[in-house]
Amino acid sequence: MSKVTLSVIKADVGGWVGHSGVHPALMERAKDCLEAAKGLLTDYYVASCGDDLNLVMTHALGVDSEAVHRLAWDTFVACTGVAKKLKLYGAGQDLLSDAFSGNVKGMGPGVAEMEFEERPSEPVIIFMADKTEPGAWNFPVFKIFADPFNTSGLVIDPKMHAGFRFEVHDLYENKKVLFSLPEEYYDILVLIGAAGHYTIKSVYSKSGDIASVSTTQRLNLMAGRYVGKDDPVLIVRAQSGLPAVGEVLEPFAHPHIVSGWMRGSHNGPLMPVSVADAHPTRFDGPPRVIALGFQLCEGRLLGPQDFFADPAFDRARSEALELADFFRRLGPFEPHRLPLDEMEYTTMPEVMKRLKDRFEDITD
Ligand code: F6R
Ligand code: MG
Ligand code: MG
Repeated sequence: MSKVTLSVIKADVGGWVGHSGVHPALMERAKDCLEAAKGLLTDYYVASCGDDLNLVMTHALGVDSEAVHRLAWDTFVACTGVAKKLKLYGAGQDLLSDAFSGNVKGMGPGVAEMEFEERPSEPVIIFMADKTEPGAWNFPVFKIFADPFNTSGLVIDPKMHAGFRFEVHDLYENKKVLFSLPEEYYDILVLIGAAGHYTIKSVYSKSGDIASVSTTQRLNLMAGRYVGKDDPVLIVRAQSGLPAVGEVLEPFAHPHIVSGWMRGSHNGPLMPVSVADAHPTRFDGPPRVIALGFQLCEGRLLGPQDFFADPAFDRARSEALELADFFRRLGPFEPHRLPLDEMEYTTMPEVMKRLKDRFEDITD
């Protein structure tokens, strides 16, 4: 049986207006580029969340395909051209290199890809977030695949009862570690509770099938200076021995706190929104997430279903807005503003340099 690869490659190559959205001309250019490469792809869908352009592609070339990565890179370059012409904000901001070198990893764009045998019916959900970072997925992914209070299938479905394996990445040391749950339930939480440091890259069933994968690049660490948060993407396969669509969406019924928001330097609630509402405004936020559902059919993308457009998530939005009010009142104080060690690509080092010689020992 032939395998399908689902690749989501995303970048911010220019905002409209400011960092709030993607101009329709960029969406059109991206579609034209992918349409012209139809021979390479089985199908594609172009989406946006906030100022991030997301290329959803299916093909038969496997993960890390040079041809697919080149197509994504060339598409972002072409869109940057449009963004520059329209003087859109931060045109080309996520393209850290002038030339493509075989794989977009490490070059700025975020990548989430999985290859699998398409099941008799293959529902997938692609989450896209803006004004936050890859660690934002730790909380929902843990709940989806490990929390029986969220996912009743972990208790009830014999195919899920054995649990899942989680691949966790250390973003600072560039190392990975595999956990088996529920056996190592408490161990994994020691790490993934520090979501800016350790992120869940992927989840596998105990029989080895890929169930979920996310983007884990940290653009600010790669660039060595502040170039924006690495607004992340998460792919989750659902149903038939994997969490049901409703179990995959359930963690978003109550907002959790993520880092990002204004200047990538603040904590705040992650608000689930419809595609139409995926344009951060207040204090460049609050951070938001959309959920696009697709049925795959021989690699074709049937969809999307705009899941968070549903009124079932209205309360999550109200709760998020209440939390946003609470955090905003703190202004430049923690825990709204990120702790100092997360501020290293801002003015913090400069201020510390200026103050260095003014610090005196406390002797009394
Ligand atoms: C956060 C983000 C925005 C900008 C802010 C300042 O990820 O993109 O909040 O950091 O609008 O942008 P500049 O420095 O470009 O004026
Ligand atoms: Mg931007
Ligand atoms: Mg963004």
